[in-house]
Amino acid sequence: MSNNIESLQTENRVFAPSAEFSAKAHVKSLEEYDALHKRSVEDPDAWWSEQAENLFWQKKWDTVLDWSDAPFAKWFDGGKINASENCLDRHVRDGKGDQVAIHWVGEPGDKRDITFSELLADTCRFANALKARGIKEGDRVLIYMPMVPEAAVAMLACARIGAVHSVVFGGFSATSIKDRLEDSEATAVITADGGWRRGGVVPLKANVDEALDAYEGVETVFVLKRCDNEVTMTEGRDVWWHDEVDGVSDDCPAEGFDAEHPLFILYTSGSTGKPKGILHTTGGYLTGTASTFKYIFDYKADDVYWCTADVGWITGHSYIVYGPMANGATQVMYEGAPNFPDWDRFWQIVQDYKVSIFYTAPTAIRAFIKAGDHHVEKYDLSSLRVLGTVGEPINPEAWMWYRDKIGGGRCPIVDTWWQTETGCIMISPLPGATPTKPGTATRPFLGIDAAILDESGNECGPNEGGKLVIRKPWPSMLRTIYKDPARFKETYWGEYEGIYLAGDGARTDDDGNFWIVGRLDDVLNVSGHRLGTAEVESALVSHAAVAESAVVGRPHDVKGQAVVAFVTLKEGVEPTDELSKELRNHVGTEIGAIAKPDEVVFAPRLPKTRSGKIMRRLLKDIVAGSELKGDTTTLEDHEVVAQLQEQFQKVFKG
Ligand code: PRX
Repeated sequence: MSNNIESLQTENRVFAPSAEFSAKAHVKSLEEYDALHKRSVEDPDAWWSEQAENLFWQKKWDTVLDWSDAPFAKWFDGGKINASENCLDRHVRDGKGDQVAIHWVGEPGDKRDITFSELLADTCRFANALKARGIKEGDRVLIYMPMVPEAAVAMLACARIGAVHSVVFGGFSATSIKDRLEDSEATAVITADGGWRRGGVVPLKANVDEALDAYEGVETVFVLKRCDNEVTMTEGRDVWWHDEVDGVSDDCPAEGFDAEHPLFILYTSGSTGKPKGILHTTGGYLTGTASTFKYIFDYKADDVYWCTADVGWITGHSYIVYGPMANGATQVMYEGAPNFPDWDRFWQIVQDYKVSIFYTAPTAIRAFIKAGDHHVEKYDLSSLRVLGTVGEPINPEAWMWYRDKIGGGRCPIVDTWWQTETGCIMISPLPGATPTKPGTATRPFLGIDAAILDESGNECGPNEGGKLVIRKPWPSMLRTIYKDPARFKETYWGEYEGIYLAGDGARTDDDGNFWIVGRLDDVLNVSGHRLGTAEVESALVSHAAVAESAVVGRPHDVKGQAVVAFVTLKEGVEPTDELSKELRNHVGTEIGAIAKPDEVVFAPRLPKTRSGKIMRRLLKDIVAGSELKGDTTTLEDHEVVAQLQEQFQKVFKG
């Protein structure tokens, strides 16, 4: 196995859960975990059907797993289920209607508490409004919303009537919306006039309008009034949310759909310029998200949970909407930025709502460290009992700070490894059972058969770097890439027969903990968000001045990775600071602000092999400021590297 996925980091600090925590936990010791894990991977059907029993099925399944058409899995075939009924009606029927489902905090400071009964009524009304506009089972609906309770209502209303939602993160651009509309052939959009972010209004409706100038398949646009900003309403197509639900019945029976009925499509970056529409279905996805939520956060009925993700990402789907709600959890939802009006906003919210389980991203933790401890120290965070992280490897310093400053040294940290594709958390400590070490996601969840393989498919020994795989199917696995089953097979199942390839490099340590080293493909992780270098490159070359570009990541102390774009201009175009700015903005318009390159390096030529392939490896070394490693004998033009090193230093320092 090549050196680039070898990690030499050694971490010896081990933190066992306290006896007091373990005594009350769902899983109480490592021995109990080991026994459960062994049993669950030896007989996954038994384990997963036991988990599925915790949901409400209108009709029970005939078979747990049908893997005869691998890698196209069918879970709980024959079963009938409604995701929205599981997240709402069931809890109201169980007498929990008056329990708060969402404590919502708007960025400007407005607040709402919404009970399960209210959320159910809102969902039913909106589901009826969707139906009244002709939206039916199987139709695709694009959701582009701020972090308001109506975002969850929109998702659950689609689920209720069997429409397939495709949520697009509010930070993505009009072009991204258009691409996703085209690929999913959506016929309706649910959006808002705007959303609050750092004191300003994100013009969501205007972005939708621009996307719809280039895509004609949308018949209805539902617009929630949130910011009261001026918007254009197109007659016959655009309708106000409040008008559509006015006087509408809050009775909308939850029909049972096949367990394999598509629940949603969520687009994510891969190694080509075209995002992949990851398709998740209903029964298995709910089984995976509901069971992981319960065990990994050690969820109990009196917890107050808060996940700071946006519903536009998989974390928001699985651990704001479906996982917590299927468990009937009370949660906090916050609309805005962590630093508005100041860096203490989160801790104020934790104190106000006595949050007990808190789930965030390493990039946020690093930003808090930078902002200073005084923002944290003003607040009483003693309600916290479990902390989680997700999205990227967490550096041990950030982990220790999180444990000490936020967790007061008493809260177990669950570092959760998973992906848009896996649907639910795959590798993570169980907080009452697993001794944790800063920087490792520790062990596979129950029922998950994770391993690290070398190029020949043999299992790697401890401290040997290899490719992270999952050897057995699991219920919340992606079912396909929407409209591209061939790419699905090739990307995830092409390397090892019948085994899921995650695309991450990893190793285990002597204690059997999994350490994730990072992506093996050309996918960047910027602030915990996935970004394909090919996507940024194709955005750059769509600009009239650009002949060619190569995009790589460089290490960044807050964002994890920063985006560096090497750009070769067309003949006769002058490299100027204005052009550099224009190119950054162009990427913002094509994809979204998160994809804007941090540095644009104008390069007369890019380093290529004699066969014309760009040698990204060299570019990565250049931007990391490290020695050029490995073989450069295939490089066509040796001078180009020195030139690029010099150029990069100029831009980087400048
Ligand atoms: O590289 C891994 C990294 O994020 C990738 C998945 O990105 P996405 O589909 O956007 O989902 C993010 C939220 C689940 C993975 O392939 N990643 C995610 N969690 C971790 C991680 N890397 C290390 N440690 C983690 N806990």
